[in-house]
Amino acid sequence: MPSAPDILADAVERALRSVVGDESAGAAMIRPCADSKFGDYQANGIMAVAKRLGQNPRALADKVIAQLRVAEVSEPPTVAGAGFINFRLRSSFVANQIAAAVADDRLGVPTVAKPKTVVIDFSSPNVAKPMHVGHVRSTIIGDCLARVMRFLGHHVITDNHLGDWGTQFGMLIVGWKRFRNDGALRQDAIGELERLYKYVNEREELREDAKAELVRLQQGDAENRAIWQKIIDLSMQEFGKTYQRLGVTFDHTFGESFYNAMLKEVVEELKRSGLARESEGAMCIFFDDDPELKKTAPLLVQKADGAFLYGTTDMATLKYRIDQWHPDAIIYVTDARQQLHFKQVFAAARKWLKPVPDLRHIYFGTILGENGKPLQTREGTPVKLASLLDEAEERALAVVTEKSPELPLETRQLIARAVGIGAVKYADLSQNRTTDYVFSWPKMLAMNGNTAPYMQYAYVRVQSIFRKAGAAKADVTQVLLEHAAELDLAKHILRFPETLQAVADDDKPNWLTSYLYDLSNKFSAFYENCPVLQSEEPTRSSRLLLCRLTADVIKRGLNLLGIDVIEQM
Ligand code: ARG
Repeated sequence: MPSAPDILADAVERALRSVVGDESAGAAMIRPCADSKFGDYQANGIMAVAKRLGQNPRALADKVIAQLRVAEVSEPPTVAGAGFINFRLRSSFVANQIAAAVADDRLGVPTVAKPKTVVIDFSSPNVAKPMHVGHVRSTIIGDCLARVMRFLGHHVITDNHLGDWGTQFGMLIVGWKRFRNDGALRQDAIGELERLYKYVNEREELREDAKAELVRLQQGDAENRAIWQKIIDLSMQEFGKTYQRLGVTFDHTFGESFYNAMLKEVVEELKRSGLARESEGAMCIFFDDDPELKKTAPLLVQKADGAFLYGTTDMATLKYRIDQWHPDAIIYVTDARQQLHFKQVFAAARKWLKPVPDLRHIYFGTILGENGKPLQTREGTPVKLASLLDEAEERALAVVTEKSPELPLETRQLIARAVGIGAVKYADLSQNRTTDYVFSWPKMLAMNGNTAPYMQYAYVRVQSIFRKAGAAKADVTQVLLEHAAELDLAKHILRFPETLQAVADDDKPNWLTSYLYDLSNKFSAFYENCPVLQSEEPTRSSRLLLCRLTADVIKRGLNLLGIDVIEQM
């Protein structure tokens, strides 16, 4: 069933064509009204067409309205402001749409007409180092985008671009061979690897040895290759535990090392095509014709000593992904500090590989402590993701225990896991991702406000209505929208599809969290104003349907954020 904005867009565009002709018509640009006083949706597209034709926009809007056939969907449309058309959905239309959504597993969310192949590069921690809170954002945001796009029917390929190659391995191998503590390695592999790296890195006298070990690794020495592989395996085991806690999976974990064998040829090609040229012995890509990038340092693809760099690997990775998957888009989720890097890589790729897919760098800001500085432990080191999640579960357990002390500990722990991990994810996803945000336990665990526990609790509350309702008449499909709060809730439920579309279009999970928060507020208003269990049939069953749909949308919405619902709290 097409959604209201789709139907309205179609009708407005048709009317516009009949007024100004096919050539001059344009997109209807249907958007939700900012203030529901004026309507539910508005068409913004008339103004641009009027401007192009040198006509009065309000007069054009009047002519379009005269041709509009939307009586089934909307109350009579009105012209507003500089030439918008406002629409208010008819409650009979809303009721039909709700009935259709109730009967649909996908809750009325259609799959896209033209599925795209989208590669999402996210999480991508560096081996032998703990994943820190910076990687939490990439992991959570990337996973959410993958979930939403998949649900919409796109073909999504996720790739964890592990940092598993580089000069640090020279030091790690020296450390491994000479200073390794097997007991410590068993206890906390990444902690021990980190110690080894620091230990060697601090000692001037080991520099040359580290270089030599790196060269042997690069030349394929069997022993060094085995140590390198062991370091990756140990790191992956640790990362795997975190991914499991977060419920995140990947289609591929190729890692940077996967592209090693391609780097030489990539640099050759870049040279041949005139994109890269030598400068002070190094191979560089300059961006002389780019007004912004020409002011920056060039993108280095090979150092004077022959070594390849992060950027070289990214060029190879891009080419590989295009050759392999022919994607329509490639999305990279990293912190904002890599903006210049990706601008350069994208600019170079656009000249080198034609045509290139839509390349998007989805960057995010820093998580700050209450002091406004990047989040750190009391000791001043970056907060490790694993201990952050531990603390989240502990604090959530306290919240759950306060709320429901009568539940057995095991049950409370299960709930605390969903609430704690959910709170961390939700706090992150509900931010406008490009800005920094202050990490606050009390805020993210608050039972009131735009938080995971609040949403999870809203779900529990709706579920408990069913429990009390006993055997509901599931066969009732007639939806009655008599009370204003009822209609308001129903209209909001119907915005689920367009919300998911907006998340995918703008790569912004916070559209979904805001939507869910509004949904649960509208549900509260409905529940306060419209008795459910006490009302007479057929109102009672109709209201129960709305409850059920609300619960289903919350559950699906949280699922797309990577957050579990719970049945009691
Ligand atoms: N390993 C990098 C880091 O921790 C992120 C890699 C992102 N992906 C990429 N294709 N460069 O900063």
